[in-house]
Amino acid sequence: MFDLVIRNATLPDGRAGVDIGISGEKIVAVEPGLPDAGEATIQARGLLVSPPFVDAHFHMDATLSLGLPRLNRSGTLLEGIQLWGELKPHLTQEAIMARALRYCDWAVARGLLAIRSHVDICDPRLLAVDALLEVKKRVKPYLDLQLVAFPQDGYLRSAGAIELLKTALDRGVDVVGGIPHFERTMADGAASVRALCELAAERGLLVDMHCDETDDPMSRHIETLAAETHRLGMQGRVTGSHLTSMHSMDNYYVSKLIPQIAESGVAAIANPLINITIQGRHDTYPKRRGMTRVPELMAAGVSVAFGHDCVMDPWYSMGSGDMLDVATMALHVGQMTGVEAMRACFQSVTETPARILHLDGYGLNPGCYADLVLLDAADPIEAIRLKAARLKVLRRGKVVAEGPGGTMALHLPGRPQDVSFHHTGG
Ligand code: FE2
Repeated sequence: MFDLVIRNATLPDGRAGVDIGISGEKIVAVEPGLPDAGEATIQARGLLVSPPFVDAHFHMDATLSLGLPRLNRSGTLLEGIQLWGELKPHLTQEAIMARALRYCDWAVARGLLAIRSHVDICDPRLLAVDALLEVKKRVKPYLDLQLVAFPQDGYLRSAGAIELLKTALDRGVDVVGGIPHFERTMADGAASVRALCELAAERGLLVDMHCDETDDPMSRHIETLAAETHRLGMQGRVTGSHLTSMHSMDNYYVSKLIPQIAESGVAAIANPLINITIQGRHDTYPKRRGMTRVPELMAAGVSVAFGHDCVMDPWYSMGSGDMLDVATMALHVGQMTGVEAMRACFQSVTETPARILHLDGYGLNPGCYADLVLLDAADPIEAIRLKAARLKVLRRGKVVAEGPGGTMALHLPGRPQDVSFHHTGG
């Protein structure tokens, strides 16, 4: 009846003692007491089974290029952009593909099976575009890679970017990107938002813009993005990424802005690891955290996801494709320590980004794809606390990665012989 049964799972919504029946590529039953599947059984032993992690914001064309051609000495965003500019002429399609494929291996091992990656289109050769379109094809059996046409050097500011962005979309890039705060003036930024939203509306595409990634409290591009989304009837299809200026904005203005974002159905993506390291660099003390107003956006009903943004590239030297690392940082920086807030942090690296990406067949209901992660944790909060080991990762009903749990041998007089970091309730 089933090709595979996962027995005695705890689900992210709190249901415990549940069996998951899988037939072919799909989940067909989620209930207690499913019939025995003999050898085709995975014992979850009460541990958490979640749909896979989803990274809503990444740069796969730059990943794992750390140190090429040199390290970022200041650690700032602008030196990172400059460094990327130095690297660009030396990029080859083969090297981009090799690094991206290696990162996708890491991702799968971390239970991260869907990534929205921006790809820089400000290169007349469109090398990275072609490389990542090929990677997208190759990883499709095990990872959903969605690409955003991203004009890193400015849509209006960089010569040829308008045509290059169209060409990238023609070649199969999925989503329209932008970077209004990097245009020459606030007015140019607003004009770029308008033009790019119109282009997406014409072509029936989603939008995801780097928006207000500054500490400038007067940066207003998210307001334009929300207004254009409303004007063009694109509710639920548009995302503002970073939105770090909202951290520094005047509270009265934000009290007008957040309801406007909610009304327009624009989603928000915070990138806590990179925001905490890159924002506030011109501050002495106190230093601003620079993450957007996550709890307040969530409270207003805005879909908020957390992205990794960078792993070992000109902007960020850390990371390993672990979305629980991302959720941990978001939880701390956003002071999201209430029980519901901690659960929301888990949703922001699973269900919410899946919705923002318009992923097909994502979730734990019968009919969804059997894409699942068995975590060495009792629940989503423990998963974040432990950055829990991924014991099994399933894609379309097949195990694609597996690893050991977190128990360690202990050699202490009068103490147990091993130690695990689970909370036993005592
Ligand atoms: Fe980014």
